[in-house]
Amino acid sequence: MCETVGVPEASQHETLLIVDFGGQYTQLIARKVREQNVFSRIVAWNSPSLAAAWSRARAAILSGGPKSVLDPQSPSLDPALLDQGKPVLGICYGHQLLAKLVGGKVLKAAAGEYGRQKIKPCEGSALIRDPGFVWMSHFDTVSELPPGFSLSAQTDTCPIAAMENASKKIFSVQFHPEVSHTEHGFEILSRFLFDEAGFAGDWTPRNFVDETVELIRKRVGGGKVLCAVSGGVDSTVAAALLANAIGPRLTCVFVDHGLLRKNEAEEVIESFRAHIPAHLVFYNASKQFLSALKGVSDPEEKRRIIGAEFIRVFEAHADELKDCSFLAQGTLYPDVVESGSPTASKIKTHHNVGGLPDWMKMELIEPLRDLFKDEVRRVGYALGLPAAMIDREPFPGPGLAVRILGEITEDKLRMTREADHIFREELRVTGLNVGIWQSYAALLDVKSVGVMGDERTYQHAVALRAVISADAMTAHAANLPHELLERVATRIVNEVRGVNRVLYDYTSKPPATIEWE
Ligand code: XMP
Repeated sequence: MCETVGVPEASQHETLLIVDFGGQYTQLIARKVREQNVFSRIVAWNSPSLAAAWSRARAAILSGGPKSVLDPQSPSLDPALLDQGKPVLGICYGHQLLAKLVGGKVLKAAAGEYGRQKIKPCEGSALIRDPGFVWMSHFDTVSELPPGFSLSAQTDTCPIAAMENASKKIFSVQFHPEVSHTEHGFEILSRFLFDEAGFAGDWTPRNFVDETVELIRKRVGGGKVLCAVSGGVDSTVAAALLANAIGPRLTCVFVDHGLLRKNEAEEVIESFRAHIPAHLVFYNASKQFLSALKGVSDPEEKRRIIGAEFIRVFEAHADELKDCSFLAQGTLYPDVVESGSPTASKIKTHHNVGGLPDWMKMELIEPLRDLFKDEVRRVGYALGLPAAMIDREPFPGPGLAVRILGEITEDKLRMTREADHIFREELRVTGLNVGIWQSYAALLDVKSVGVMGDERTYQHAVALRAVISADAMTAHAANLPHELLERVATRIVNEVRGVNRVLYDYTSKPPATIEWE
């Protein structure tokens, strides 16, 4: 049987509820609130658990959304919730919905208002005190204040850009205080959270660690936990939390599929042994993976084979591992939110472990399921893990298999590893790696003519890729200095046997992807 048993809801924390009306910035609101040490939870406007979540929350934010409140079918909110006396902040669609629910008027404006607008605060507004630019993105507009509300701010084109009913602690803004383009947006959220809603700001990485360790201990009792680790930040932090909670009853498994970067397996093992007090099992399955990949060039086929071989490794070691009754996974909050309701998230978790052998379908522990990626990093630091483990660039599960175009051979792995090592070493020593999301060298399935020592060469080409990104959904090429690229190119063709040409990939995502395959 496979059942999700994550760490229970962090209900002991004061919670800010974010009612999601389908806004593109809803997760950003949640992160901006958490940055101020306030725990936030996103619940869809039509979720059956909304009323319960509302009554547990200290305050609520109503998010933006793509619909028009003038459409009778549009997402709404039970107005009785507004009578519970909880502080509420409406943002964009939430501003218009509040106006509609409490007796104001909303109109389709003659023209929409998009982008930066200068805001003028009104005397005495509780949340908005500073003039400055704000980020707008709306078509409908609030044209008449609801009874009991006063105007908080205007722009040249938006007469009711913000409003408030201070005695009922209901506030709303047409613009987006959560985006970085809104000057003073952080202060507006902060005044709402602390001055109006009275949050204590108890959502700190240290508190999270202490509470999660306690919850894991209760959940696991005297049982044993299996945690597959890759060296990536999510599995590392999950393992560190578990190790703090149950120490020797945690078994971490690290599989070398032969597709890691230069010295990577040794470095992962060394840093785990130094910083994570748990039992680490290392399986070197390089030969098995490389023989399964022999002759395969299709990227999706490579991924499928690698997934299947991972399962075979675990099957082969079932006897050593099967006294574990829990399986730890590094699921993050965006995965939980994106799968919608708590029920849907279970389906997704099921799906994730669907290919595992029966003995591995254990109870799941997901200690990071309440966290965003940046919070995982903060928790990693609170656990005392070193920057080298926490600030590591993401590395794809199939490793160099998706960075060697065409068939994978030992010789191509050698060339890729060496070229990649040179590029990333030069970035590191010059400090130019700071701010880069991912950087690597890919080996192209292309040979070209060159000349070395008066001899003609016909060898491989390497593409360097370094991208700036916030979440891997979109990315653009890092603007690296010509001198650096020239030095890296010279070093690669001189030091890596079999490579005679080096290119830099300037393509953004979209239309390209971050990986070449
Ligand atoms: P793309 O290439 O789609 O990559 O722009 C987006 C992010 O996902 C990583 N990536 C993968 N990670 N298994 C993984 O675990 C994969 O098959 C895979 N493919 C891409 C990539 O490194 C980037 O961070």
